[in-house]
Amino acid sequence: MIETIGFCQEMRPESCGFILFGATGDLAGRKIIPALFGLCEKKLTPKNFYIVLASRTPLDRGALESRLWNTLAKAGFAPSPENFSSFLGRLEYLQADYGNGDFYGRLSQRLAALDAKFGVKKNRLFYLATPPAAFEQITGELKSGGLLFEPEDRACWSRIIVEKPYGSSLESAAALDAGLKTAASEPQVYRIDHFTGKEAVQNVMALRSANAVFDNTWNSRFVDHVQITVLEELGVEGRAAFFERMGLARDMMSHLLQLAAITAMDLPSTFRDTDFKAEKKRFFESIRPLSPEEAAKQAVRGQYAGYRAEPGVAPGSAVETFLSFKFQVDNDRWRGVPFYVRAGKKTGAKKTRIDLVYKKPDRGIFRAIDIGYPNVFSFSIQPEEKVAFSLISKHPGPKLCFVPRSMGLDYRPEGREAAGYPTDYERLLIEAMSGDKTLFLSSFEIQFMWKFLSPLLEAWQAGPEACPLHAYADGTPGPAAAEELIKKDGRSWV
Ligand SMILES: NC(=O)c1ccc[n+]([C@@H]2O[C@H](COP(=O)([O-])OP(=O)(O)OC[C@H]3O[C@@H](n4cnc5c(N)ncnc54)[C@H](OP(=O)(O)O)[C@@H]3O)[C@@H](O)[C@H]2O)c1
Repeated sequence: MIETIGFCQEMRPESCGFILFGATGDLAGRKIIPALFGLCEKKLTPKNFYIVLASRTPLDRGALESRLWNTLAKAGFAPSPENFSSFLGRLEYLQADYGNGDFYGRLSQRLAALDAKFGVKKNRLFYLATPPAAFEQITGELKSGGLLFEPEDRACWSRIIVEKPYGSSLESAAALDAGLKTAASEPQVYRIDHFTGKEAVQNVMALRSANAVFDNTWNSRFVDHVQITVLEELGVEGRAAFFERMGLARDMMSHLLQLAAITAMDLPSTFRDTDFKAEKKRFFESIRPLSPEEAAKQAVRGQYAGYRAEPGVAPGSAVETFLSFKFQVDNDRWRGVPFYVRAGKKTGAKKTRIDLVYKKPDRGIFRAIDIGYPNVFSFSIQPEEKVAFSLISKHPGPKLCFVPRSMGLDYRPEGREAAGYPTDYERLLIEAMSGDKTLFLSSFEIQFMWKFLSPLLEAWQAGPEACPLHAYADGTPGPAAAEELIKKDGRSWV
């Protein structure tokens, strides 16, 4: 058993009903239903808790149960009969078209009955796993049906969770947000970027705050540059329709900026969500925006060679499946330290990591020798969850030669203990049930993401002359132009 120090109590979420709209959809099946079951199995739900699944597909109880069993099996669960039946005992299905006003009356009656049955005091968490076009209508109907309580009403609460993509442009994101806000207030809206729920991402902040030796060197005096990498082995895998509309930059920019913020923002004075959000906002405001002209020079887009042959992809598609860019941060901590970012599909291996590459020593007895290797502080987020620090060490023997060595820790505790930890979605659901918004995105963060991305999109719209779409072979880590982006500064990808 590992002895832990600090705020070691798992947050106990408040008793509530969880209402999942879009329960028969892809997101619900792959992420949300498995997370709900995982929380029940790990006994991390509130004691008084129930689930309502709502969707258009008619499902009787038998069909629902076998569908849920298959969903869980596909997600890698092998539920014991007791755990599965305890899960089913907390859950019911409502068939509905969200456009039909009568549904909300029916829902209201069912929630009142379930509140009474499970001892819940009108606390409700609505998860909208539906097409974004339905968000405004659903929240509007919830409000007019008396199901969205004002947050000032301390006797009970109602919250709404939504998922990216938050629009496809600055304008459409603003319209989506305005639509949600016609019925819900900002404190009621929980916007997910599931990268923030990952244990290994939260460990970046924990390591920085708990180890002065690291955070004191986390600045332009010591760090040469920062790299953020999110590469995937898979291509579009059946999501071509979505990808043809969005492209990689729109799909990934939120994740990339969240990783940058968690790595480089100043540490908040407390981990209260308001302090955390204020520091994160300050960091985003320090990022130097790229103009479309700069974007054409500082960003590279690519497409894997087999993309146009994927089912559902237009033969001449110019949609990017790879993105790399460089940005600067204008604050005292990071002035002069470039951030290099790359993300792509079909790159040969899944690899999400953050690397802080330190400056090489410019003093001391070895200044005349180029040791060749800098110190690198690496956080592997997925598939492994590891932290490594590379050091230069003396090679054993009579001569004075140097070799790079790595000190590391495997972040996941081994064995049975690891099985009890929440996954990213489970963590985010617990936080939403507890009313802690630290890991969720604010309206400002969505707006910032689009403001930052828009000049890149604008540069690409201008055509391939200014900003070509570089092809890369399937299974390689992106186009040569992405190597060039960093190489021309005398650096290379870790
Ligand atoms: N899939 C992902 O990996 C993923 C990742 C990140 C974010 N998201 C976001 O998550 C949301 C859902 O995506 P998805 O991929 O799960 O979509 P999906 O597979 O198309 O599922 C949509 C769900 O909404 C229901 N629905 C649609 N119109 C309805 C209506 N008029 N009345 C009642 N139910 C209706 C569907 O019900 P029926 O099937 O029963 O008709 C289905 O359950 C979207 O906002 C998407 O952008 C998805």
